[in-house]
Amino acid sequence: MRTPLVAANWKMYKTVRETVVYIKEFRSLVKDVDDVEIVVAPPFVSIAAAAEAARASNVAIAGQDLYWEKEGAFTGEVSAGMLREAGAGLVIVGHSERRAKFAETDRDVNRKVKAAIDGGLVPIMCVGETLEERESGQTLAVLDRQISAGLEGRTVDQVSSIAIADEPGGARGTGRTATAAQAQEAHAHIRGRVREWVGSAAADAVRIMYGGSVKPANARELMSRPDVDGALVGGASLDPRAFAEIVAGGRPGAVK
Ligand code: 13P
Repeated sequence: MRTPLVAANWKMYKTVRETVVYIKEFRSLVKDVDDVEIVVAPPFVSIAAAAEAARASNVAIAGQDLYWEKEGAFTGEVSAGMLREAGAGLVIVGHSERRAKFAETDRDVNRKVKAAIDGGLVPIMCVGETLEERESGQTLAVLDRQISAGLEGRTVDQVSSIAIADEPGGARGTGRTATAAQAQEAHAHIRGRVREWVGSAAADAVRIMYGGSVKPANARELMSRPDVDGALVGGASLDPRAFAEIVAGGRPGAVK
């Protein structure tokens, strides 16, 4: 059985101070959740403080990006080793905003996935078509390209240990979630490709998260589908109570 992974992608929101206040409240809200892997990805500057605030809790901290070199003259960049020492256990790679606004390529994503694994971080590799690609019927072709390029060169064990986040175009930040049936269809396709290209062990183990306007009201329905193994949550994760309810599968009663 795959343990669902539910991650907050804060994007460029919250200061260090706001992060610490959030984590202190959030960790107590989710302290009894033991069947979900819970992750918060704050901006780089808050990772150390977030990790400290989350110490000895069931909340893990992730970076939102990394660079593939260990160190060097790469102004503005951060390596896997730096993230890990600061307290991150995971890292988001290839988010659609990185691809669209910062010109990240499939090749970059491949290098970042490798660097994350080599540096002891679990990558959450994001895939997903743009709205334009979706509307012109290219969804599955784009997913195939991103998955094959992103995972190229990785071993069965490596692919088994990572997570893939599918964030369909038109669903991110728009309030328009894909239906649970659409998410299931895309995730089943992704898992099928992993089965074809990497093998059954990796396909059965890899977590495939859904991202795009996930909220307490739709989390349960989405995550009840067999191939939807969690969520990557943007806007709704900025509120600790809303994110705690999402983590608990949209069950408000499960949040203290
Ligand atoms: P929203 O949840 O705000 O739609 O963001 C989705 C996303 O990009 C998460 O990484």
